[in-house]
Amino acid sequence: MKETPKIAIVGTGNVAFHLTRFFIEEGILPSVYGRNKPALLAFEKELNVPTNQDLSALAPDTLALLCVSDQAIPEVIDQVPNAVRIAYTSGSTDLHSFPKDKVLGVFYPLQTFSKGVVLDAKEIPFFIESNDAEFEKELLALASIISNVVHKASSTDRYHLHLAAVMSNNFVNHLFHLSEQYLQHHHLSFDYLKPLIRETIRKVELISPSHIQTGPAMRNDHDIIVKHLASLSGLEKEVYALLTRSIQHTKEKNQDEL
Ligand SMILES: NC(=O)c1ccc[n+]([C@@H]2O[C@H](COP(=O)([O-])OP(=O)(O)OC[C@H]3O[C@@H](n4cnc5c(N)ncnc54)[C@H](OP(=O)(O)O)[C@@H]3O)[C@@H](O)[C@H]2O)c1
Repeated sequence: MKETPKIAIVGTGNVAFHLTRFFIEEGILPSVYGRNKPALLAFEKELNVPTNQDLSALAPDTLALLCVSDQAIPEVIDQVPNAVRIAYTSGSTDLHSFPKDKVLGVFYPLQTFSKGVVLDAKEIPFFIESNDAEFEKELLALASIISNVVHKASSTDRYHLHLAAVMSNNFVNHLFHLSEQYLQHHHLSFDYLKPLIRETIRKVELISPSHIQTGPAMRNDHDIIVKHLASLSGLEKEVYALLTRSIQHTKEKNQDEL
């Protein structure tokens, strides 16, 4: 294992787990800090890393990557000794919301992380920002060790990327979940949809999503839409109706612009 740079991962959740693994794969052994003792023990067991519950024990020459919930970032920054360089991994937390006298950075990986799902770090885009030019260079170099796709991004651009990522991943996954529940309710397997899901993803790699929208909403197939709505209730019905309106509205807008 390489001795430097000295990295501390703060937090024991999804992002902490994956970043720790990415650094280990590159021969860098981070130490992991967190308030949750059982979670730290799991890191020791699974990833063989040193752990600590006491943030005040961080050595001054450490670079701490905060992988904690967005709302906990200010509180955790306050617990880290002053000489430690800190970067956080949040997409929508504005760097300018922190006092300017504190050297801070952002180390944002644009990917969805779940502990049990292995990921290839090399193709994950990392977006870097700092209020200090030297620290920004250090973070760019650090991200380049684990990924081939590293960019500088302002807090505003990172915010827009995160919002778009919520729509592209969280919302789309939620629709997969609703589809799975609907099929389960009708004793049908979600597996039947997987070739369709794979084709949907393959197509957006090749063509703009604006050119490949299909379905009853796009075709203005009123009778089918009414039938589908009658088969749904509650929030699922609202989601179907809202997305149908959104597809039709976007289609009309695009036609107006032609
Ligand atoms: N998950 C993703 O796909 C993803 C992608 C890119 C960026 N991010 C960003 O990465 C950061 C971490 O996300 P995550 O998904 O890893 O979250 P997570 O799995 O929910 O883990 C959150 C971690 O924060 C700790 N924490 C929460 N409140 C704390 C506090 N007051 N003091 C100390 N520790 C606290 C939790 O500790 P306990 O276990 O003790 O509660 C846990 O270790 C967030 O800023 C998120 O926006 C997430």
